[in-house]
Amino acid sequence: MARRFIIANWKMNPTNKEEASALAAEVESQLPESQADREVIVCPPFIYLQSVRSVLNKSKLGSQDISCFEGGAYTGEVSGRQLYNMGVGYCIIGHSERRQFIHETSEEIRAKLRTCLDNKMIPVLCVGGGLKASDDEATIRAMVRKQFNEGLDNSPIDVLLVTYEPTWAIGSGRTPDPDHVSRIAAFLREQQDELHVKEMYILYGGSVNSHNASSFRDIDGFLVGGASLDGHEFAEIVRAFK
Ligand code: PGA
Repeated sequence: MARRFIIANWKMNPTNKEEASALAAEVESQLPESQADREVIVCPPFIYLQSVRSVLNKSKLGSQDISCFEGGAYTGEVSGRQLYNMGVGYCIIGHSERRQFIHETSEEIRAKLRTCLDNKMIPVLCVGGGLKASDDEATIRAMVRKQFNEGLDNSPIDVLLVTYEPTWAIGSGRTPDPDHVSRIAAFLREQQDELHVKEMYILYGGSVNSHNASSFRDIDGFLVGGASLDGHEFAEIVRAFK
């Protein structure tokens, strides 16, 4: 059976542990008893991983980032080993907000992806960019291919999730033409063999909500930001995904 992934990216929300646990509990209570082929993954801020983990049952735990260092004297960093030991199964890597605002480099992204895999977690590699809806598709393909290739180091990967997110669609309430998303997804899939990835899934992210979720086709899931902060709305997206 095909696997599907619906990922909640809470970003820097909420502001305290009680609200984080309550949101996780709301998500859990709203999810259908049997989600069949879909895996739901909740990515809270690091400081809430433990409290959210104790609430999750039908869904899995993910992180929004990972250190590129294995371990040692790196103030403020959280290692792959620490995340794995906390029960994290998936790590978002190379989100455009980190590329843009924290100036994460391709070298760091590649190192993060490697340490994620070395610690038996599944990477969710974000690619995209495109500051304007009018950007032409050839430019987007070139950009996405570059980020995709730069993120991988040619050693074999069992399972990889790749999320296509146009920057202009993130948090804006605007989404690209679903046909454009399908074409980019197909383009990314064409490169799977060349990059030694055994199982690859293509997700879309950027202003996904319960109303537009069913319009996207030929993708394997969503990365959801704003709409994942409402448990009911998020569960509706899980249900709406075809
Ligand atoms: P959004 O965020 O759903 O709020 O647009 C998506 C993301 O940044 O992952």
